[in-house]
Order: sequence, then structure tokens, then C-alpha cells
Amino acid sequence: MRAAAALFERERSLEDLIVLVNSLTSVPTLEEVNDWFATAFLRQRDYEQYRLFSTHNYARNLVVRSEFAEMLFLCWRPGQRTPIHDHGGSIGVVLVCEGMMTETMYEHAPEGHVRPYSTYRRSPGSTTGADVPDIHQLINLEPEGRDLVTLHCYAPPLSVLNTYSQSSARVGHWREHYFCEGAGI
Ligand SMILES: [Fe+2]
Repeated sequence: MRAAAALFERERSLEDLIVLVNSLTSVPTLEEVNDWFATAFLRQRDYEQYRLFSTHNYARNLVVRSEFAEMLFLCWRPGQRTPIHDHGGSIGVVLVCEGMMTETMYEHAPEGHVRPYSTYRRSPGSTTGADVPDIHQLINLEPEGRDLVTLHCYAPPLSVLNTYSQSSARVGHWREHYFCEGAGI
């Protein structure tokens, strides 16, 4: 038990992560953010104020944003999903907090569309990092009643993302927005 207690002392709380983002003086690397999230210990009561869902789409609830990185909770009802996208020049790391996240990775096909090459299911406590060129889609594919909550860090903060199709070579653009009900963001 003593060893377990010592381990917990080294784990990072949500407050620790917020301090990390606010104290950045340059854009962190994928490895650095992976390390933050791999050592994070978050209880639902710690992020209750960001645990906000939407009926129409997955909800993006901003926690902190600086010049160099941003961190937010995404809350997903079953069936809610991102478009197939890249991160427009940012790196992104995800920590699954509740539920099961399905991630599909895509590559460019010679004809210009994108095609999937692997799919992962990620359970609470697991992290996944997306480097600048990566193309992926995140989905809550669980049955009714099984919500998904994920913590995301993007560095630098997202601006305009590219979206892709499995049936055409058309590349779309998507500008991020936040909505944190109650906070009016
Ligand atoms: Fe993404």
C-alpha cells in the first residue's frame, strides 16, 4: 500500500495539467504531452464542470488554452463521431477517461481519397497520440447508455483542420469551436 501511495503522489491531477499548459514557453512535443497524460490521474468529480454533453454532436469543453497548447474534454453520446481529419499542423494526444473510444487510422490512397488501415478500441486510462501528418476518426461506437469522455491536448492549439472522404478526393476544412454550456463559450 505504501508503494501504491507513493505512485499516486507522482501522478498528475487535472490542476497539475492546467499548470503545465499555462507555464509553457514553447510548443510541447508529442512525447512530452504523451508523458503528461500517461501519468494523469483523473476522477470524475475532478472534471465534473467539463463533463457536458450535447444531443446533436460530441461536445467540446475547453479547460485551458495558451499560445502553445490547449486542453479540453470531449463528451460523446453513443454514435457521435468526428469527421475523418488531420490536425492542421498540430499534434494531438487523447486520454480516455470514461467509456470506450474507437479510433480508425487512415492513409492517402493513390486516387486521392483516404482509406482505413487500422482500428483500435481504447479503454479508460489509455492514451493515444496523433503526430502532425496523421489522419484519423474518433467514434463512440458503444450501445445506448454508454457515454464516452476523453481529455485532449493539442499543440499548438487547433486552427483549421483538413477533413477527408473515403469516396472522393475532396478535402474539406473545419474550424474548431467550443461550446461549454453554462460558461457560454
Ligand atoms: Fe483528432
